[in-house]
Amino acid sequence: MSKGLWRIGQKEMDCIKEAIDSGLTGTMNQRLEADFATKFGVEFAIGVNSGTSALHSCLAAMEIGPGDEVIVPPLTFASTAFAVMYLGGVPVFADIDPNTFNVDHKSIEEKITSRTKAIIPVSLYGLPADMDPIMDIATSNDLFVLEDCAQCFLGKYKGRTAGTIGHMGIFSFERSKHMTTGNGGIIITDDRELAERVRKFSILGYSTLKAGAYETKPPKEIIQNPEFDRHLFVSPNYRLPELCAAMGVAQLENLDSFVDRRIQIGQIYEEVVKDCDWLESQKTPPHSNNTYFTYAMKLECNKSGISWQDFRRVYLEEGGDPYYAAWKLTYNEPAISGMEFVENNIKYKKGLCPVAEDIQPRLIQLKTNYENIDHAKDQASALERTIMKLKRF
Ligand SMILES: Cc1ncc(COP(=O)(O)O)c(C=O)c1O
Repeated sequence: MSKGLWRIGQKEMDCIKEAIDSGLTGTMNQRLEADFATKFGVEFAIGVNSGTSALHSCLAAMEIGPGDEVIVPPLTFASTAFAVMYLGGVPVFADIDPNTFNVDHKSIEEKITSRTKAIIPVSLYGLPADMDPIMDIATSNDLFVLEDCAQCFLGKYKGRTAGTIGHMGIFSFERSKHMTTGNGGIIITDDRELAERVRKFSILGYSTLKAGAYETKPPKEIIQNPEFDRHLFVSPNYRLPELCAAMGVAQLENLDSFVDRRIQIGQIYEEVVKDCDWLESQKTPPHSNNTYFTYAMKLECNKSGISWQDFRRVYLEEGGDPYYAAWKLTYNEPAISGMEFVENNIKYKKGLCPVAEDIQPRLIQLKTNYENIDHAKDQASALERTIMKLKRF
């Protein structure tokens, strides 16, 4: 049986061939950036080689440095916090909302100090973060907002698109995401200065880079001259490979259908879960849509007497596909747990975010990335049987 990804087909092959035939000159990166900016209605899009490098580059463009505090949720992929640490900054963890699982703006407000420089709201599992109060907090405290939309493509919040509301937004093209280039990522912003800084940072501090991909390169006599000053500062090379960009051009053309498919599958699960009083799905506020990167729900273990492990075992017995638990809260990961920032008066230890600590061990994330709707319906039937079976105990 083929192990190929169902979302990759002839269009991707054609674009990759076109990139090779045209000598890998960067035109696919330019096209991807232009098409992505148009699709999201923003001025600038800058392609990079992962969502993690996108976060790192944006924080560098925001001039986050040693000792600066950046507020992040603890329930997210570790990159959100790690990117702050790459620059010597200190991630400060704000608690989550028990219903949406996204960061709680009241907790953000409580964590602000004179060292706070930025906030990274994450649109978790495909649901846009609650951006209005976050932007209000940022404006009153003169903070940058970087939207981590690695898992949320085309999510809507009060009529606006997730990723376009903060000063900058990032997306991941890793293979599980709504669209993929194998690995990759992209940054969007309307701010020319941030765009230019982020592009320079993501490619070795190159002096000639500007905010827009199409902005004129200096003539060859200048860049080929032995006296040419090429690097303005020390930074990584996060360039998106041209073959990946070619895939991205093709994937973007199908993005609406990829997102619609996941929403349709999320709604199939929702029909099953809505009448169960011991499973609570991620709540989508009326002003938002959930793009269902995964279908997330919490198990009310106390009410049901069912453990996370029991639920998974029965679901698999009933024909359900294996699914992931939520990542450990970032501050509980061995990489940073116990770490202390004396000058910031911060230590990573249990108790920092009680709501997230209560919910994380009980979260179930069902897969929505299926080509075949009938297969998704079979999964929903397995879920229904699991609920019926466990109800009897
Ligand atoms: C919320 C979140 N942020 C950032 C990332 C990092 O993206 P990448 O894997 O492309 O580096 C991910 C990846 O899963 C993610 O889920």
